[in-house]
Amino acid sequence: MKRIKIFDTTLRDGEQSPGVNLNQIEKLEIAKQLERFGVDRMEAGFAASSKGDFNAVKEIANTIQNTSVTGLARCVKSDIDISWEALKGAKYPRLHLFLATSPIHMEYKLKKTPEEVVETAVNMVKYAKERFQEIEWSAEDASRSDKEFLAHIIEKVIDAGATVINLPDTVGYATPAEFGALFKYIKENVPNIDKVDLSCHCHNDLGMAVANSIAAVENGATQVEGTINGIGERAGNASLEEVAVALKIRSDYYPYETGLNLKEIKRTSDLVSKLTGMHIQANKAITGRNAFAHESGIHQDGVLKHASTYEIITPEMVGVNSNTLFLGKHSGRHAFKDKAKELGYQLSDEKLKEAFDSFKQLTDQKREVTDDDLFTILTEIQTETSAIHKYKLDMFQVQYGTANEPSATVKLTNPQGETVEATEKAQGSVEALYKTIDSLVNEELKLVDYSLNSVGRGKDALAESFVQLIVNDEQVSGRGSAQDVLAASANAFLNAVNRYIVQQTTKQRSVD
Ligand code: KIV
Ligand code: ZN
Repeated sequence: MKRIKIFDTTLRDGEQSPGVNLNQIEKLEIAKQLERFGVDRMEAGFAASSKGDFNAVKEIANTIQNTSVTGLARCVKSDIDISWEALKGAKYPRLHLFLATSPIHMEYKLKKTPEEVVETAVNMVKYAKERFQEIEWSAEDASRSDKEFLAHIIEKVIDAGATVINLPDTVGYATPAEFGALFKYIKENVPNIDKVDLSCHCHNDLGMAVANSIAAVENGATQVEGTINGIGERAGNASLEEVAVALKIRSDYYPYETGLNLKEIKRTSDLVSKLTGMHIQANKAITGRNAFAHESGIHQDGVLKHASTYEIITPEMVGVNSNTLFLGKHSGRHAFKDKAKELGYQLSDEKLKEAFDSFKQLTDQKREVTDDDLFTILTEIQTETSAIHKYKLDMFQVQYGTANEPSATVKLTNPQGETVEATEKAQGSVEALYKTIDSLVNEELKLVDYSLNSVGRGKDALAESFVQLIVNDEQVSGRGSAQDVLAASANAFLNAVNRYIVQQTTKQRSVD
């Protein structure tokens, strides 16, 4: 079996998904989970793009010990310098430089001749090599580039010091046969190609990102790039869990393996979905909630007689357990702490107490507290910043009936510590609730997206809400969970407002 390296870009390309904005604590939490999942390389962000990205890349670089941490940079000296500042504390730092090579990008975007593009790429790889030992160089829009030109520039950047060559299908245009042929061509026409890792990076605009990645591997790629749940620009990137499980399940056909711990798939996928607010479609391969559900009677009968009649992947293989009651009303703090650890959380004493109190509260309302419920509570508490004064929901009441106009009364404690209260009417219950909260918050708010899902199944399932707001011209997201849908909705709305306040306070502190 040939070992294929996995390069995760959830925190960079994945974070470029419309509407996703992760804060530093959330990024670090995902990075720690990616390390647990066993990715070989993780792209922590684009340090030169903003102060927030710089800080997140730096913190991840300084924390992660078992995975190489990389940062994206344009072929520009200042990007390389900033990336080094962010990444120099990493145990295994690396740089990811990119420059477009397709005629359309070179002419219209870069406004450079092919010769100038070669010169820039070579000079910047040499410049980066003064600091970074490991340099990945990406030929942006490789799949729409001229093959001979691509082979030429690749040879030059390897001579200049690149250690990984990445060929992205930037716009998700390639077909598997074509993309495979590109890798074969590069393997056969770049004399020094065996000195480096050859990597693929596929986008999913035509739904072929995973198939294209596997075609690249069959034709010489030694690294696959992608994201958890396939999130990313536009239609997203290749879903890493799908690539890994396909190689595993079809190991009779594909002589390749990854170093991923497949049992961590569910947790990794849940964490990314929760923190990004990008819900996973029910029928998504591997991680969708229906991925292991058999609906037709004939299939159910077959599975009962012999699971492999209709089941090619076992849920256990990807970390999906039966998810029934694990702790109840009478469970103690010790058992709770052990369970939190099993779910991957190391909580401070203060956060543990907060999580335990929420758990106890939930056991009063819900007969069965599942792993999914606990994971939701723990994720919320672990990623909460407590040091900054924010809005706190003290109580709310919503009146809804088909005969009257819905109204809501809300009482909040504002960041100044004052209690404020208001009542507003609107067309619906959530609208009334949001309008009332809006009237109590001293910021300009506009709701742009709202969603509500249940955590797990059953009529007493926990509700989870996700919102996107524009707060004073800045887009922020928020999430909240509760036993009741209105409480979850209120929590999500206020969470978005509070995230804005935390962002502003952190920005202000870094200016000070
Ligand atoms: O899709 C792409 O081309 C990229 C590069 C920056 C590698 O994400
Ligand atoms: Zn990309």
